[in-house]
Amino acid sequence: MSERDDSKSGSNAMWGGRFAEGPSAIMREINASIPFDKALWRQDIAASKAHVAMLGAQGIVSAEDAATISAGLDSVAAEYAATGVPENWDLEDIHMTTESRLAELIGPVAGRLHTARSRNDQVATDFRLWVRDACDAADAGLAALQAALVTRAGEHAASIMPGFTHLQTAQPVTLGHHLMAYYEMARRDRSRFADARARMNQSPLGSAALAGTGFPIDRHATASALGFDGPTANSLDSVSDRDFALDYLMAAAQTALHLSRLAEEFIIWASQPFGFVRLPDSLSTGSSIMPQKKNPDAAELVRGHAGRIIGSLTSLMITMKGLPLAYSKDMQDDKPPVFEAAGLLTLCLAAMTGMVAETTFRTDRMRAAAELGYATATDLADWLVRQANIPFREAHHITGAAVKLAESRGVALDQLPLDDLQAIDARIDERVYAALSVEASVAARASHGGTAPDQVRLRVAEARMALGLE
Ligand code: ARG
Repeated sequence: MSERDDSKSGSNAMWGGRFAEGPSAIMREINASIPFDKALWRQDIAASKAHVAMLGAQGIVSAEDAATISAGLDSVAAEYAATGVPENWDLEDIHMTTESRLAELIGPVAGRLHTARSRNDQVATDFRLWVRDACDAADAGLAALQAALVTRAGEHAASIMPGFTHLQTAQPVTLGHHLMAYYEMARRDRSRFADARARMNQSPLGSAALAGTGFPIDRHATASALGFDGPTANSLDSVSDRDFALDYLMAAAQTALHLSRLAEEFIIWASQPFGFVRLPDSLSTGSSIMPQKKNPDAAELVRGHAGRIIGSLTSLMITMKGLPLAYSKDMQDDKPPVFEAAGLLTLCLAAMTGMVAETTFRTDRMRAAAELGYATATDLADWLVRQANIPFREAHHITGAAVKLAESRGVALDQLPLDDLQAIDARIDERVYAALSVEASVAARASHGGTAPDQVRLRVAEARMALGLE
């Protein structure tokens, strides 16, 4: 059909379907943030109550009007809690939705609430409060994961497994040591959230549209009422800054990345050739066609969700890049990625906490695997250095010859007869066998932060103290 035919068929051809009303319908839909920013209702009510209390205290509105507005806000909050936030696109966002309902409940006095503020400082304040709570939730989730990790690490401080580099058997390690590696990652993640929280804890409220206000407001009062350390210093920055959301997402992305690595370990360990773990039934699924299968779906989804969380960070960075001062409507798109990332992060933290707490570690299989792959070859080299005063490079060479011989016979290093070892290097004697067991290997690595069971027990004890578990 030609273009001319289209134009003849009237406005409906161009503005068809749900946009039949034309540009006004498009505007209503593209402008509306209420479908997602209604999640901010608690913060919106809290910030409005702090604002109106300050307006009353400063004599900007009468004490009586301030009290009426504050009580009205409580009623709106009670309605939201009982029946949810109504979604009327004409009211655009949570700020206008609340103000409109307030006016229905208390009449024109509701119009005094918006004195000396703008939706620009309002949304900046509400969202900061929301993200601050999200930091606290992430911290609690990470603390729970850490508690599960130290508990299992304590149980397995001396359980031996192969340690890998390049996913090739490298040296024996203890399972407790391996688990405590993830405790350390979680510790750094918590410090990143704590950092982000401390940095964001300044109140933008009172920055108004962009330039501040001519009313004699008290920004210190509203800041302290909302639990902020104080007011922000520059009104232009305050209404256009979303660093706090990016800081949160950076910490969330880093955490998700760590969780995906832990998830991947469980996926590998649960595979039949490894068989290091039996995953909890509650966090696995069966196959609809292969009855023998138990799939690590929860771990795979944690691995997958990391991609979405990292994507949320990328999304907001791209939204913010190149925006001039001060507020631009692009910034309304700040919320969906943060909400999505926060929801996924909570779920992933819970899934991995459950996985760590409930998995059965098959320590017999782990120990047997640690015996394979000449994992104690380094111990032979170290023994030659210590007992025979051979330079490490030469010891490495001698050990290589021993491994080659053992390999050609299909036996472990400690199954080579002493004669054969002495044929490789005469300085080897029977004491070497004590060094070649996997137990001796891990016990020897007692340097600070090493895998020796005693070191692991020390780190677990310190961690339990730090977590308040002792
Ligand atoms: N819904 C808006 C947002 O989330 C609130 C701020 C609107 N400000 C404005 N000047 N239109 O960003």
